[in-house]
Amino acid sequence: MVHMNQGQGETSYARNSRIQNAQQNRMKPLIEGSIFELCSNNTLFPGKILIADLGCSSGPNALALVSIAVEAIHSYCLQFEQTLPEVCVLLNDLPDNDFNTVVKSLVTLRQSKKPNVLTGVTPGSFYERLFTSGSMHLICSSNSLHWLSKAPEHLTRNQIPAYDMDEHARCESLPIVLEAYAQQFMEDFTLFLKLRAKELVPGGRMVVSLVGRHSDVTASKFSHLWETVAQILSVMASEGVIDKAKYDSFYVPMYGASSEELMEIIQEEGSFSITDMRVYDPATDMNNALFTSSWFINHLRAIFEPIIVEHFGDVMNEFVRTAEQRWTLEGSVQDERAKYPRAMQVVSLAKA
Ligand SMILES: C[S@@+](CC[C@H](N)C(=O)[O-])C[C@H]1O[C@@H](n2cnc3c(N)ncnc32)[C@H](O)[C@@H]1O
Repeated sequence: MVHMNQGQGETSYARNSRIQNAQQNRMKPLIEGSIFELCSNNTLFPGKILIADLGCSSGPNALALVSIAVEAIHSYCLQFEQTLPEVCVLLNDLPDNDFNTVVKSLVTLRQSKKPNVLTGVTPGSFYERLFTSGSMHLICSSNSLHWLSKAPEHLTRNQIPAYDMDEHARCESLPIVLEAYAQQFMEDFTLFLKLRAKELVPGGRMVVSLVGRHSDVTASKFSHLWETVAQILSVMASEGVIDKAKYDSFYVPMYGASSEELMEIIQEEGSFSITDMRVYDPATDMNNALFTSSWFINHLRAIFEPIIVEHFGDVMNEFVRTAEQRWTLEGSVQDERAKYPRAMQVVSLAKA
C-alpha cells in the first residue's frame, strides 16, 4: 500500500513537500484556463460544479489545486457578473493516506471560502471507479500518476530484480526491466483515462502533472528519486544491513514517462484531446542553497519511508546513515541533481 509519511513531524510529507507545491503552482494557468472554458459553457453545469483532486496526500498541498479552481470560479463569476454555482470539492487518495489531517483542512477551506463550497473525501485507488458516471466537471492530480497500480508482474513472477546490485547483471536486465515498467505504465494510464472519461461530463476537463523524464534521456526511465533510493538500499544490502533476497524482491511501483509516451497513450485511448502540455525541470523552482543532504534525506523519507519499512522493517536509521555517507563521499546533492536532469510533465485535457 502506497502512502506518504503521515502527520506533521520532521519527516512527514506535510513538512517536506514544498518542491511539490511549487510544481502545483505551475499547474495554475492550466487549471484557470480549464475553469474559464467550463464556466463560459454554462450548459455544462447548471448551478453546480464538481471538482476533485486525485492523490491529494495530506498537508498544505492537499488543498492547493482545488483552492486554485475555487478561486478561479469565484473570479470568473465576479468578472462576468454571474451567479456563483454550488461547488463540490472531493479529495481522493489511497485508504492509508492521512485523511484525518485532510478532513481538518477541508473544514478550513469551507470556512475560508464562500458558503457555497461543499467538501468530501473519496478514498480509493484512482485505478478504480471513484465517482458516479457523468458527474465530474474538473479532475486534477499533481505528482501522483507516476505511481503504478502494482509492480510489473513479469518482473515479480520471474524474480527479476528491478535494480540488480551487480552492475553487469543490472545492465543486462535493464531493457527487460524498463520494458516491463513502461508496459505497466501504459496499462495503468490507459485505464486511468478510461475511468475518468466515464466520470466526467461531456466537455469535462482534466489537468494532471506527473514526474517523468526528458525525451532525450534514455538512460533511465525510473524516476531519479527511486533510483537514488535503490542505490542507497543496494549499499545497505552489500553491507549486510538488509537481506539481499529482500532487496532483490523490492519493487517501487513508479515510472517516469516522456511526453511522447504520454501523448501516444492519450491519443491511442481516444477519450480526451490535449489542450496544453508542458515539460519543465522542477529544480528551477527551488533555490539551490536549499538542496542540502538533510533536506534531501527528509524529502526521500517523506515519500519512500512507508514502502521501505513495510518491506524491510524499520531500517530508517541505517538508511539515513548510508545516505549521509553517500553525499559525503560522492559529491553533493546539487552535483547529483545536475547529473540527473528531471522532468515534470503537465497535461491539460478536454473530454471529447
Ligand atoms: C507525492 S504525493 C503527491 C501529493 C500532492 N498531490 C502533491 O502534489 O503534493 C503522491 C500521492 O499519490 C497517492 N497515490 C499513489 N497511488 C495512488 C492511487 N492508485 N490512487 C490514489 N492515490 C494514489 C499517494 O498515496 C500519495 O499521497
